[in-house]
Amino acid sequence: MKAWRLHQPGGPEAFVLEEIPRPEPSDGEVLIEVRAFGLNRSEWFTRIGDSPTVQLPRVLGIECVGTVVSDPSGELRVGQRVAAMMGGMGRQFDGSYAEYTCVPSSSVFPLETELAWEVLGALPEMLQTCHGSLHTGLEVQAGETLLIRGGTSSIGLATLAMAKLAGLHVISTSRSEAKAAVLEAAGADDVIIDAGAIVERVRASHPGGVDRVLELIGTTTLLDSLQCARAGGVVCMTGILGGQWELSSFRPMGDIPTAVRLTSYSGGAGDIAREQLQQYVSMVEGGQLEIRRGPTWRFDELPAAHRAMDDNRANGKMVVVVR
Ligand SMILES: NC(=O)c1ccc[n+]([C@@H]2O[C@H](COP(=O)([O-])OP(=O)(O)OC[C@H]3O[C@@H](n4cnc5c(N)ncnc54)[C@H](OP(=O)(O)O)[C@@H]3O)[C@@H](O)[C@H]2O)c1
Repeated sequence: MKAWRLHQPGGPEAFVLEEIPRPEPSDGEVLIEVRAFGLNRSEWFTRIGDSPTVQLPRVLGIECVGTVVSDPSGELRVGQRVAAMMGGMGRQFDGSYAEYTCVPSSSVFPLETELAWEVLGALPEMLQTCHGSLHTGLEVQAGETLLIRGGTSSIGLATLAMAKLAGLHVISTSRSEAKAAVLEAAGADDVIIDAGAIVERVRASHPGGVDRVLELIGTTTLLDSLQCARAGGVVCMTGILGGQWELSSFRPMGDIPTAVRLTSYSGGAGDIAREQLQQYVSMVEGGQLEIRRGPTWRFDELPAAHRAMDDNRANGKMVVVVR
């Protein structure tokens, strides 16, 4: 089979398209013909050499959609449409940047849907992350105000769509004036241009602070985000777009305002039920949940897709269609 393998960290050209043996499923695994896969920042971190636990060479790709080729357990029929995500995929073992991938059954979600592969391919990891951030991390309630920091990211835009559906008032951010229109078109009630400190701007419209903050930029804005939340509010750290994994100094007394709660979400396949993912997919198919996608790429264009990620040109989830 054809697979894009990463031998050394580097730029988008570090991926090498190779012929490698098709994997064979053992008990507890499912062999999937990959039809499409979404691109993820975690793959980008691995590509640039920022995933010390991933041993190279490796076929990256932490999620995919496709059809079942073989399920030794007999649970899933051959040809069944499925999504697969996480569980070590593309990190501990070869992932979805390939024509076939073999994954643990616990990472596989059977799906009843007629959505086109390029649409379906955008969904699994994104829906799991947004659902987990909103409902496990932030425990949002209708009527609350949510601030999304890093709003033009694919996760930011999909969370905005889900949050509007859940009845929240959403403030979303971008560093770029030019991208404010993207956020407004996606349904943001208010847009803030974010140069790193937005607490004054947030407090101007919400003097007591906002109910919930989804932090997608990470440690570079986290302390400011904590100041944006009201007493009893929650800040959930889900992303690290700023590229800094650690805070240079952290004084919990003071840095965390009184009664503000700080949590994180780093979910996996086990954090969303099969029925819940199916429900979201059906909502996308039925037009109730609108997920904004970025560009779609052919399999042979993978390096160009990573270049677009380097340049932050996507404005939505990018998908590679394998066939
Ligand atoms: N916890 C989990 O389970 C989980 C799962 C999936 C993804 N994630 C994380 O969620 C985050 C979003 O992922 P994604 O794939 O949706 O990202 P993405 O679509 O590639 O995000 C692109 C956006 O990030 C913003 N950005 C890029 N570099 C930045 C920087 N240095 N500082 C501030 N903003 C920057 C840009 O926004 P502007 O130019 O508009 O400012 C750009 O539009 C990532 O950190 C990812 O690792 C977490």
